[in-house]
Amino acid sequence: MIKLAPSILSADFSRLLEDVKKVEKAGCEYLHIDVMDGHFVPNITLGPMIIKSIRKEVDMFFDAHLMIKNPDNYIKEFVDAGCDMIVVHQEACTHLHRTIQNIKSHNVKVGVSLNPATPIETIKHVLHDIDMVLIMTVNPGFGGQSFIEGMIDKIKELKDLIDKKGLNVDIQVDGGIKPDNVSKVVKAGANIIVSGSAIFESDNIEETVKLFRENANK
Ligand code: DX5
Ligand code: ZN
Repeated sequence: MIKLAPSILSADFSRLLEDVKKVEKAGCEYLHIDVMDGHFVPNITLGPMIIKSIRKEVDMFFDAHLMIKNPDNYIKEFVDAGCDMIVVHQEACTHLHRTIQNIKSHNVKVGVSLNPATPIETIKHVLHDIDMVLIMTVNPGFGGQSFIEGMIDKIKELKDLIDKKGLNVDIQVDGGIKPDNVSKVVKAGANIIVSGSAIFESDNIEETVKLFRENANK
């Protein structure tokens, strides 16, 4: 069974709670929250204040994708805001193992994300310490970009490594995922699917969510 993680980057921020309620009602398991700092990626989005205000109204699992430099400085703030999982970028962490331990010390789940050009090899030795790997299937920074086909082999490589080590680590994919390409990422090994524009820009969110689930195992 896959889990769906709509990315609020494509929500209407003037009606953020209303939009989030729609994906919650449609049965999506995770809320994917894209945090960008204008340094790690060329875009600025939102921070703990906004997360805290929607947390009070929403029961979904909050998955914070931190596309920021020096994430260690902000982990406690994101946990206090109500995030259930903190995902940091391998490329943003000089001492990745230390950052992972920092996140775990707050009793939340921990994920590590890889940009398209970053090899699996770079997280091989911390895999047993984390709950999830996020494979970026676009270069992070914006919603609505095209899926990078070369990432299919990368997902397979990660899945093989996780299985070989006998670990229970989720594989999340993020960027350019739509109902018509979801099956190939799932076949490759992904089980948590982020989708921004395909969900929030659709006319009927419930139908689109249904279609994602139907197509996932085709
Ligand atoms: C990109 C973000 C994604 C983005 C996905 O940097 O991490 O979560 O919102 O949007 P779509 O599904 O439109 O590619
Ligand atoms: Zn994301």
